[in-house]
Amino acid sequence: MQPEPTSDYWIDRLDGDQDLDGVLFVESESFTNPWTREMYAWELQNRSVCHIMVVRTPERPVVGFCAFWLVVDEIHINNVAILPGLRGQGIGTALMTRVFAEARRLGARRATLEVRTSNEGARRLYERLGFYAAGARRHYYTNPVEDALILWRDC
Ligand SMILES: CC(C)(COP(=O)(O)OP(=O)(O)OC[C@H]1O[C@@H](n2cnc3c(N)ncnc32)[C@H](O)[C@@H]1OP(=O)(O)O)[C@@H](O)C(=O)NCCC(=O)NCCS
Repeated sequence: MQPEPTSDYWIDRLDGDQDLDGVLFVESESFTNPWTREMYAWELQNRSVCHIMVVRTPERPVVGFCAFWLVVDEIHINNVAILPGLRGQGIGTALMTRVFAEARRLGARRATLEVRTSNEGARRLYERLGFYAAGARRHYYTNPVEDALILWRDC
């Protein structure tokens, strides 16, 4: 069932197994190669490096999330997604803006991520947020095989 458009949402840190269930659901609705519970469990063993912010609505504990690593003074954004029925309403922009604020609070100065060259919606979002392309990784993605653009911005 598609969620209704909403103006009522808030952004929070991931907290516990129920949130992880929500993240896995958004993953499965968003990516052709979703990360598994085991992959996240592995990541979350190191909470000083692996950080996950979630978007909540009154109806659902997790409608979107952003997972990033803090590596010295950089954040590496690994995954960001919003449930399909709630995209295009500014929630992704609000989430990323909050992630940069959190990153600055943690001491980061720069942010980087990879994006599929064909992912025009995400590329527009990142461009609007001030990311610039600094290179490419050939055949970085599978299913389907595709190059990645490497983007950076200051936090
Ligand atoms: C990328 C993503 C997180 C953006 O979240 P969002 O909540 O749709 O973002 P916003 O509403 O803030 O809009 C950002 C841009 O998305 C585009 N957009 C608008 N409606 C959209 C829709 N229904 N679906 C997808 N993108 C849409 C627009 O280009 C918008 O930019 P604009 O306002 O300049 O036109 C979301 O589309 C998503 O989950 N995509 C699938 C997973 C993914 O590709 N993640 C990125 C991997 S690098």
